[in-house]
Amino acid sequence: MNAVIELTDLTKAYDLPGGGRLTAVDGVSLQVSAGETYALVGESGCGKSTLARMAAMLVARDSGAVAWSGQQVSGLSRRELRAIRDHTQVVFQDPAAALSPRLTVAEAVEEPLRIRGRAGSRSVDALLDAVGLDRSMGTRRPRELSGGQRQRVVIARAMALEPRLLVLDEPVASLDVSVQAQVLNLLADLQREKGHAYLLIAHDLAVVSSVADRIGVMYLGRIVEEGPADEVITRPRHPYTQMLIASVPVFTPGQQVSRPPVVGDPPSPTESRTGCAFADRCVAATEICRETTPEPRTFGSVLVRCHHASGG
Ligand SMILES: Nc1ncnc2c1ncn2[C@@H]1O[C@H](COP(=O)(O)OP(=O)(O)O)[C@@H](O)[C@H]1O
Ligand SMILES: [Mg+2]
Repeated sequence: MNAVIELTDLTKAYDLPGGGRLTAVDGVSLQVSAGETYALVGESGCGKSTLARMAAMLVARDSGAVAWSGQQVSGLSRRELRAIRDHTQVVFQDPAAALSPRLTVAEAVEEPLRIRGRAGSRSVDALLDAVGLDRSMGTRRPRELSGGQRQRVVIARAMALEPRLLVLDEPVASLDVSVQAQVLNLLADLQREKGHAYLLIAHDLAVVSSVADRIGVMYLGRIVEEGPADEVITRPRHPYTQMLIASVPVFTPGQQVSRPPVVGDPPSPTESRTGCAFADRCVAATEICRETTPEPRTFGSVLVRCHHASGG
């Protein structure tokens, strides 16, 4: 299947105000096909949002390549790039920040169409229906809505231009746990209907496990494990993935949720280092891990950057 978007070896570093450089994304490659949800998970600060913004062309990459439907974007005209931008919509964590307090729900949902001179070409009511909001909500303002309703408005607005790719950067992280599953189910329903490609970002593996087709685990700017979601979850090969999975809450009826803590913190992204970036936190680390950066190794359809990963 042809990928909707293919990122190859993307890199992004930021200059620090006090001098020095911070490498936020360090050679990441991934691709997302129509109808597929690629979930990118990793702790806060590992570079997920920077990668998301490069995929959505909101942030310029330092190096690497972006291809749309097999075409390199670097060779496209402004007009073609504009079309791709319309086909790429982003949903961020905080729906309140994404919505103007002055616009009604109907105005917010229609705005992307209006800006392009296409108001009325799609029915606002149909967009509200699609995200499970009552049509009567159209006259309300964001402050009159709950967090979950606001994020539905943001999603309806993103759907207005019929995007092929949705970049979802922690779309449920600001919502009550009880509402998170509803919004994720809504996104899954819309995808089944329309065949969008989703790049879904989360710091919490539990959030994505039910909707992801593929999972990429990011650590300090790199993808350390990637593969089909069920395989990564049931048989994590990288010790970091294993730690993330061990921290997913276990629900036992009648008992409190138990959630073992994630141990330690990632090293600073401003320091250059040799060896595996996870070595200091890894129970399995040996001499080679501190000396040599692990190259990606494949086990069937799973890719792992760990000297000690095994096929079994
Ligand atoms: N505009 C910026 N200027 C400088 N540093 C940044 C900027 N944006 C992000 N960073 C740094 O880049 C790293 C990755 O950040 P980010 O992509 O937001 O990670 P995540 O979304 O996984 O939390 C962090 O160390 C963060 O502090
Ligand atoms: Mg982020």
